[in-house]
Amino acid sequence: MATHINHLLDLEGLSKEEITSYLDLGEHFKGVSQRRIKKVPTLRHITVVLFFIENSTRTKISFEIAAKRMSADTLSFAASSSSLAKGETLLDTAKTLMAMRPDIIVIRHFAAGAPHFLARNVPAAIINAGDGGHAHPTQALLDMLTMRQHLGKIEGLEVAIIGDIGHSRVARSNIHGLKTMGANIRVAGPRTFLPPHFNTLGVQVYDRIEPAIEGADVVMMLRIQKERMGKDLFPSDREYARFFGLDAQKLKLAKPGALVMHPGPLNRGVEITPDIADCNNSVILEQVENGVAIRMAVLYQLGKHLVEEA
Ligand code: CP
Repeated sequence: MATHINHLLDLEGLSKEEITSYLDLGEHFKGVSQRRIKKVPTLRHITVVLFFIENSTRTKISFEIAAKRMSADTLSFAASSSSLAKGETLLDTAKTLMAMRPDIIVIRHFAAGAPHFLARNVPAAIINAGDGGHAHPTQALLDMLTMRQHLGKIEGLEVAIIGDIGHSRVARSNIHGLKTMGANIRVAGPRTFLPPHFNTLGVQVYDRIEPAIEGADVVMMLRIQKERMGKDLFPSDREYARFFGLDAQKLKLAKPGALVMHPGPLNRGVEITPDIADCNNSVILEQVENGVAIRMAVLYQLGKHLVEEA
């Protein structure tokens, strides 16, 4: 049994050097994924459990591909087909999994704090793959890698994050990571999507999209998270698209060549028009590619201790 367990639960509290190290490793592993033979033996003998209690396409598949490219064994686990559906608790489920001795658990859960709970209660390395509206650290790392690769740096960038800020774990993790790396952040959305505490996070808050986008190096659009909200937080998709959706006219306010980003999944025609989602400035699919690279980097950082101690 390993004696030294690292986790990745949040970017809050990580230093600039630690984030830079993930980005450098991500760049290295992106190179591995671009080779004809994409597999390295680095995490042979390591077992990774993908414990996804909430739906996912990009994060789940990219963690699975990342683990397989590192030669780890993987086991996928969905709530609907497990005994969670029969009322088993998260802790009992985790203890049951631990009896089978996995080394790393990648968890996505609708409840904020679920990965932290596992980290306190089970002796495996825990990776947060998104917990409720709280944090999505690997998404923010892959976003920062994409910015660094296109714009050459993160420090001093003007990054506009637009949309359903209040429910967004992507916004929270990007704010923590980007601030640590020295970027300036503007957030914008309808007032009902802007919780008052965002004023304390060191970001500029706008209730209109135009001033947030003006002169921005990066425009990151977010999906409206209807699954996390009650009724009546916004009038209609149509009105939202008119005032807060990114279209060609609004994008002209950003710097020429500004990156258009979106963590996915997209609601085309709501937060972003189809032509802008697919335009030359859009790096949305590159974010997906960088997702595999960053997840290889994170699995390596956490798994290398376990390999060394084996
Ligand atoms: N960006 C993101 O987390 O996408 P998925 O929900 O598809 O994993």
